[in-house]
Amino acid sequence: MTSNTRFTVRVALIVALGGFLMGFDASVISGVVGFIGPEFDLSNIQVGWAVASLTLTSTLAMMIAGPLSDRFGRRPVLKVAAVLFALSAIASAIAPDYLTLVIARMLGGFGVGAALIIAPMYIAEIAPADVRGRMVSFNQLNIVIGISVAYFSNFLILGLGQSDLAWTQSLRLAEWNWRWMLGVEALPAILYFFALFSVPESPRWLAMRGKAEEALEIFTRVSGKLKAEADLKSVQDSLDAESHLEKGSFKELFMPAMRLVLTIGIVIAILQQITGINSVFFYAPMIFEQSGIGKDAAFMQAILVGIVNLVATVVAILLIDKLGRRPLLLTGLVIIASSMLLLAYSFYSASYGPGGDLIEMNATLVLVGILSFVAGFGISLGPVMWVLFSELFPNRIRGIAISFCGLINSSVSFIVQLVFPWELENFGPSTTFLIYGSFAIIGLLFVMKILPETKGRSLEELQEELVTGK
Ligand code: BGC
Repeated sequence: MTSNTRFTVRVALIVALGGFLMGFDASVISGVVGFIGPEFDLSNIQVGWAVASLTLTSTLAMMIAGPLSDRFGRRPVLKVAAVLFALSAIASAIAPDYLTLVIARMLGGFGVGAALIIAPMYIAEIAPADVRGRMVSFNQLNIVIGISVAYFSNFLILGLGQSDLAWTQSLRLAEWNWRWMLGVEALPAILYFFALFSVPESPRWLAMRGKAEEALEIFTRVSGKLKAEADLKSVQDSLDAESHLEKGSFKELFMPAMRLVLTIGIVIAILQQITGINSVFFYAPMIFEQSGIGKDAAFMQAILVGIVNLVATVVAILLIDKLGRRPLLLTGLVIIASSMLLLAYSFYSASYGPGGDLIEMNATLVLVGILSFVAGFGISLGPVMWVLFSELFPNRIRGIAISFCGLINSSVSFIVQLVFPWELENFGPSTTFLIYGSFAIIGLLFVMKILPETKGRSLEELQEELVTGK
């Protein structure tokens, strides 16, 4: 590895820690809800609100984080996100009542939304074109690791709380278990904050702000002097070509030249969520239980879901700059669609008693269907969406564009999670999975027809081809 590559990989890994915090923060609550209900004497809807309130502020943060980062730089926004994660973790851990807990969680939600869109954008702006896909996917990998670590950390705290070791008792792990679950996140958040000081500002953002010298210095550390000069020049040329336009604005997003990239962005944002990933993620134990295998096995199988997602994401990282974005998306969508059809069939062919009780069902088929669905997502829509978001849009409105697509993604995610239990009750699992599968097929046709391959080309080349040249 050359020193240039080492530098870039180090920077990308640090920035992608934002993804880890985001994944951890969003899923840690799953271990908490069982305890706060009785402790604060909460109604069901209050418990639901304790979970969903974070998605609300995270959606809001997505709207403002992009424009803020266009204005003040990518790094300051990430630092603010790190502070919010830390504050939120500490405040939720010591919350004296329900209201404080919800407010503390909502504070963290702002961090989630900001990290979710700024981290991949920053990485795309600093990474050399030939490894950009891989580096942006670090972020998705970290989200996935964050989700799994939170499950594991919850599990560990719970287990340690039940032991009679002296130190676990002096930390009151048993009595304060959910507080510890939420509080431990402060540690990586503080680490993230300080690590960000060793990361430079995005060179493309600097160039856009007329700070050519600083931009050149960072481009040089990324890919050497010769390449750096060419990179800076192409950023400047792309900015010059647009100098007659006003500062990037929301309205500009809807100009005719943007039609192709915006359509792709929006459709992929919807597709990533409407094929059901978070229904599977947040309700996995429940789905497995419906296949009649019992609670413990359902819990074990849910852990498998996390592992498969992780492995698939690694596979995507290894392949994304070699094979390209299109082949991964197409293969993934075929796997997603077939898995959903398999799941629909498994539940359709089950036999139920007169009271609706399950009599017989092939539980292995359900497990295979869910795991292959998650694998399909992990090699395609999971990482590839973030890579596309970070490379489709022109430099000057990238922040606004990513905010907009992130907002759509997050809103669809919220709705899909919300209606899933209702769908199960009213349509049954078979039809619900059939619906997800149909969306995957429609998405597949769309990707085949309109998605161009973006691997290996500089952001400015892509801009020329996909936007300016239109
Ligand atoms: C999605 C999340 C999802 C996660 C799972 C992300 O790319 O945006 O909604 O939970 O992947 O791996």
